[in-house]
Amino acid sequence: MNQTSERVTRAFDSWADRYDEDMRKSQYFSPEWIARHVYDLDGVPECRVLDLGCGTGINVKALCDLRTGIRADGIDVSTKMLEHARACNRYETLCTHDLNSRLPDIHSETFDLVIAFGFLELLADVGTCLSECRRVLRVGGTLWASFRRFEGGDDRSPPRQISLGGVTLIGYSADEILNMMSHLELRVTAFDTVVGYITEMGFPCPFYVLSASKTQ
Ligand SMILES: C[S@@+](CC[C@H](N)C(=O)[O-])C[C@H]1O[C@@H](n2cnc3c(N)ncnc32)[C@H](O)[C@@H]1O
Repeated sequence: MNQTSERVTRAFDSWADRYDEDMRKSQYFSPEWIARHVYDLDGVPECRVLDLGCGTGINVKALCDLRTGIRADGIDVSTKMLEHARACNRYETLCTHDLNSRLPDIHSETFDLVIAFGFLELLADVGTCLSECRRVLRVGGTLWASFRRFEGGDDRSPPRQISLGGVTLIGYSADEILNMMSHLELRVTAFDTVVGYITEMGFPCPFYVLSASKTQ
C-alpha cells in the first residue's frame, strides 16, 4: 500500500463507528438513488453484486431492503469499515484490498451489478478501477458509479482537487466521465446530477451518478 492509501485507510478506520450516522445527517445520496434505479435489475432474480469501497454496507443494505435475491461481495481498504459491513450480515464475502490495483482473484464476467459509490474520488488511478469494473461484469450487467462533480467552465463548481485531513479528493467533468465510459465500451443509461451530501457547513456537494451497462 502506498502512503496515500495508508492515509485514506487511517481516515476511514477512525470514521467507521460514526459513518452511518454522519451519512444520515448529511443526506447521503445513495439510498434514495438506489430506490430510483433498482429497476435496472429487473429480470435478474438472483443478482450477484460486487460492492467496491463498500464501507459499512449502506448500499447493499438499501438494495436488500428493496428486493430479494441479492448475493453481495464487498471490498474495502479499511478493516474497520469492513467490520461494520460484516456485522450487517448482508455480504457473502468481504475482503481488504486497495482499489488502485487490479482486483485479486476475481474471475471475469462474474457480477450482474458492480457498485462504485463514494470512493472513485479518492483513487490515484480511477482508470484501472473502472476497467476492472468492466472486466468483472457479465455481459448485460450494470455499473453504478458516483463521481464528485468538477466543471472547469462553471464558476460555482468546487475545485478539481481538495484536500481534507491529508486526503485528496478529485472531481471529474461530465465529458471526462462519458469519455471514460465510451472508452470502456459501457453504455450509459442514466446520468444524474445529485447533491452527494451536505457538508457540516451546509454546502451541497455536487456529484454525478451514472448507470451503465456492458453490452458486449
Ligand atoms: C465515503 S466511503 C463510501 C462507502 C460506501 N461505498 C458508501 O457509499 O457508503 C469511501 C469508502 O471507500 C474506501 N476506500 C477509499 N479508498 C479506497 C481504496 N483505495 N481501496 C479500497 N477502498 C477504498 C474507504 O475505506 C471507505 O470505506
